[in-house]
Parts: sequence; structure tokens; C-alpha cells
Amino acid sequence: MTAAIRVISTEHARTWKLLNLIDELRQRMDCDEVAPDARLFSAIFDYTEQFSDKMHHPKEDKYLFARLLQRHPEAARVIDELQREHRGSDLIMARLRAALHDCIADFGSQRERFSQLLRDYSQSVREHINKEEGEVIPLARQYLTEADWDEINSAFLENSDPLFSDDAEEHFRMLRSRIINLAPAPIGLGASQPVAETMPEVVPPVLKVAGLSSHYGQIQALEQIDIEINEGELVALVGANGAGKTTLLRSLSGIQPVSGGSVHLYGEEITRLRADKRVAAGVSQIPEGRQVFGPMTVEDNLLLGAYSRRRDDSVKADLEKMYRLFPILKEKRGLAAGTLSGGQQQMLAMARALMARPRVLLLDEPSMGLAPLLVEEIFNAVRRLRKEGMTIFLVEQNAAGALAIADRGYVIETGRIVLSGKGQELLSNKKVQEAYLGI
Ligand SMILES: Nc1ncnc2c1ncn2[C@@H]1O[C@H](COP(=O)(O)OP(=O)(O)OP(=O)(O)O)[C@@H](O)[C@H]1O
Ligand SMILES: [Mg+2]
Repeated sequence: MTAAIRVISTEHARTWKLLNLIDELRQRMDCDEVAPDARLFSAIFDYTEQFSDKMHHPKEDKYLFARLLQRHPEAARVIDELQREHRGSDLIMARLRAALHDCIADFGSQRERFSQLLRDYSQSVREHINKEEGEVIPLARQYLTEADWDEINSAFLENSDPLFSDDAEEHFRMLRSRIINLAPAPIGLGASQPVAETMPEVVPPVLKVAGLSSHYGQIQALEQIDIEINEGELVALVGANGAGKTTLLRSLSGIQPVSGGSVHLYGEEITRLRADKRVAAGVSQIPEGRQVFGPMTVEDNLLLGAYSRRRDDSVKADLEKMYRLFPILKEKRGLAAGTLSGGQQQMLAMARALMARPRVLLLDEPSMGLAPLLVEEIFNAVRRLRKEGMTIFLVEQNAAGALAIADRGYVIETGRIVLSGKGQELLSNKKVQEAYLGI
């Protein structure tokens, strides 16, 4: 077997196992009425989307299919079909995500639709793989020359090409290990050892801050900060005015220089990475004071959030998703953003950030300056995002509100973390109650 075919077939085998997992999860949902696990499904969709679109399809299109078309033009029919399916996968993933969201919001009425989409998806991908393995690869074996294979194989072994690099492998290995860890049973998804019999594969935290310090001139604003935020967690950071909350967020998003310590994103050091590169890597900060573009319409503000993405149906589907999450934005989609109330602008700022499909959301005092009813609405929106599987770091002076919805929390005082624990534990902590809750 050639190196290229071995790589492609291994990838097909992994995808097949993933489809088995999807089928199993669907059956649990249908037969046992178990609501879908948003984090697990999101992890599966992330992996499928990123891996298939960024690595598997381009490799096939660029090397195998292109060469085969030259040598054997009759292959055009099946290759056309496969490529049409490649191009359609974005939209299908967007539909699945939207249906997952609906299903979580209303399991009773939306289960059937999500289940049906999953069934269609699994079946069509299996057919796709069968077509490739059953038709295209045999044709390639028949019609490609020795020299063709040399060229294709050396491309598949070329490590500096981003399609094949160790970096890409590492990234996808991480995405796979998220799935392995969240799955209800071992799925044999290319883990080096059977997961059940060994230590579970360790997924690095989404963000890990270690010994971080930062200065404004001579003044130390942050001192030895240690914080971890794991996949799917909602972590709160509470503290008084001037404690260093914003400074910490700014140092995570790369606009505040750090003077010591480190920041890791999914195990990779980003301490000195430029801010725009962090955004591209999925770190998205919503600054204090919202900063929406006042004269632009609500919808244009949202589309601006997706500026780095291809303008296609998946953007449209995400737009619809935002309107489902924040119905008021749909109502006001054609109005200038500047005419929205403070709470609505905060929702717009959140939705705009989500349009870029970040992997972690950094929120700086979203409740600031809002009336109590709106504060509650904002915290509810944050909670809904968390339920959807989004990883969130929520910075707040409103300790009661933030800790009530957080999985875990940290308390910061004059640049130092003085307490940490589960949200509920901190809420009932005497010191926290005295200092921050006015009890
Ligand atoms: N640009 C700056 N130059 C000098 N000192 C600054 C600057 N920005 C913030 N500081 C100081 O750093 C410390 C932390 O400020 P930071 O804005 O991070 O606090 P915060 O917890 O976000 O407060 P708030 O709840 O008011 O937003 C404060 O003592 C503040 O005075
Ligand atoms: Mg602040």
C-alpha cells in the first residue's frame, strides 16, 4: 500500500468510528430519552469540521483527485460528486449545530429533528467513504503511474506543508482526545492505548495561566496569578474596583504586556503571541463597555464578527443561531446598534464575538451599568452559552451573580488570587460573603 492511501484509509477508519459513536449517541437519545451532551457533540462537530475541511479534503482534492482526473478523465463523475459533498459539509455542520442547540433548548419537541439530521449525516458520510474506497482508490491504483505515486507520497510525508505537518497532527490529536474524554465509553478513536485500561488521556486546559505578573511602569498590577479554565467550563473571576480584573483579561488577549509567568492555550504557550494571532487561535475578548459600532445595523455588526470567515451559508446559519439565542437582536436586526439599550448592546457584543466561532470567550463585566432585570437577563444568556458547550471566563464585580452561575471561581484582590473554588462554595464562603456580597 502506498503511504498516501494508508494515510487516507486510516483517516477514513477514524471517521467511521466517530460515526459509530454518533449512531450510538443517537440511539441513547431516541431509546433512553437521554438529552444530548452539548459538549460531546460540539467536540465531535469541531473535530469533523476542522479536520475534514482543513486537512482531509484538501489533501484528497489537491493530490489524489487532481492527478487521477488527468490520468483518467472518466473519473470526473465520481470525483465531482465527492467534491460537491466536500463543499456541502460546512452547511451540514452548521445545520447540525443549530439542531443540537434547539434540541438542548427543547428536547421534547426538537429531538426528532436532531436525530433525523444525525441519521442522514452518518449515512451520507458512510456512503461518501464507501465511494472513495470502493471507486476512487481502485481507479487511482489502476491509472496512476509510479511517478505519480512518488509525487503524491512524498507530499503526504512532507512535514513542512501545513496539511501534513506535525503541528496539524497535534492539533487534531487534541481535538480527538477531547472526544475520547467526553464519550460515555471507549471508542477506539486512535488513542495509543485502550483508554479504559490506562489513565485517561489528559486534555490540556483551554487556558492555563501560571505565575503571571504584569506592571504599569513601576506599579505591579498582577502578581503570580495561577488560573485554569477547562473545556466547557464557566469560570468566574470576581474582585473589587481596581483589583486587576481587566488587566488580567487584557494580558490573556495579548494587549497587555506581561512581566513574568506564562499563558498556555490548549497546551501551547501563547505568552508572547500577538493579539491578532490569539484571536485567530480562538481567544475572544469582549471588552468592558461593549463597544459595538453604533451607526451600523445590528445585523451588520454581527456579520462583522464573522469577517475572518468565508461568507457562505454557515455564516447565515450562525446568524440565525444568534437570533435564536438573543431574540431581541432579531427584532432589531435592521436598526442602528447605537439605538439599542445597554443590555441589548451587551448581547450584541457577545453575539458578535460568537460569530467568529471562538474557543474561549473572555467577558469583562457584562453586567456593568445595567438595571437589575437586565443583569439577570445577561447572566441567563451567559448560562445558555455555557450549556451549549462554550468555554467562558467571566470577570465581574457582581460576585453574587457571577458565582451563582459559575462552575468555578477565583477571587482577586490587589493583583493577587486570594481564594478559589467551586462557584457555590465561594458563594457560601464567609470571607466572600463579607467582602463581596454584603452579607
Ligand atoms: N493604564 C494604566 N496605567 C496605570 N495604572 C493602571 C492602568 N490601568 C489600570 N491601572 C491600575 O491597575 C490596577 C488594576 O486595574 P484594572 O483596570 O485591571 O482593575 P479592574 O479589576 O478591572 O477594575 P474595575 O472593576 O474598575 O474594572 C488598578 O490599580 C489601576 O489603577
Ligand atoms: Mg475592569
